[in-house]
Amino acid sequence: MAACAATWAFGIDAVKICKNLLQTGDSCLDAVEKSIRILEDDPAYGRYLVGKGGMPNAAGTLQLDAALMEGRSLQYGGVAALEGISTPISVARRVMQGSPHSLLVGQGALEFAKKCGFTTQSNDHLLTAQGREEYEKFSHRLHYESLFDKHDTLGVIALDRHGQIAVGVSSSGAPFKAVGRVGDSPLPGAGLYADDKAGAACATGDGDKMMRFCPSFHVVQLMKQGLSPSECCSSVVAEMVERLGEDPPLEIGLIAMNMQGEIGAGSTVKISGGHNGSSSYNGFAYAVWQHDCEDPKILVHS
Ligand code: GLY
Repeated sequence: MAACAATWAFGIDAVKICKNLLQTGDSCLDAVEKSIRILEDDPAYGRYLVGKGGMPNAAGTLQLDAALMEGRSLQYGGVAALEGISTPISVARRVMQGSPHSLLVGQGALEFAKKCGFTTQSNDHLLTAQGREEYEKFSHRLHYESLFDKHDTLGVIALDRHGQIAVGVSSSGAPFKAVGRVGDSPLPGAGLYADDKAGAACATGDGDKMMRFCPSFHVVQLMKQGLSPSECCSSVVAEMVERLGEDPPLEIGLIAMNMQGEIGAGSTVKISGGHNGSSSYNGFAYAVWQHDCEDPKILVHS
């Protein structure tokens, strides 16, 4: 019954961690939080716009978004534009379970995290040399277009052996984004949604456009009507493309899982970056593991 999935090829590392946690009895919520947190806290994943080492905003400051939702109680917790903390997903978990609130932003999120005992780090410490270098180029307007339109987000969905489902997302958002800009990632319905009457979904891509369509909520509602995860993701992407047109092209990747552990994706992504030395993929790469498969693997939606 247990299964997990994550956005992008680099998500395979989160899926491997999540799988081990599910197999040793962790709840779906714990497995989602821990697998995302490990990647957030490792600056090697910053180039995928996740956590420490992610790309700073237009003022040179790293501001992170993250959220979690679980399908039984529809509990949700999120943080947005959080500075000084490398593991926003764990702050989001505390918002969900240790506060009367659902979403905390900016300074308020930071104050809350400090009260919960999270250690803060200087912005200099949270940026990598590459992040600082790219920011230098950006601030001198020499060469930033290639990165400017990048919108990776790590999204992880897990179904545990007790038949419970949870989803989490984490992103530093678009490089050199406006100060205080919040993407779709931490928004329930847009970046993520879970309901154990149907399943869970999460999104990656151009959050400024995506948040207007609540694609994750929409996918879960379609699954409730009995459509497969891949039919739901494809249908939601098709509707968005129809409404938004193709010029400029919308960048979106959606993954979804139903309560049987079936996984699907829908996307407009033409090329996904490789990971761990692999070359790029022609389409939207995402990582999956299902209880009956031996090893996590990367699939491509094209
Ligand atoms: N989907 C992440 C962002 O646009 O910030």
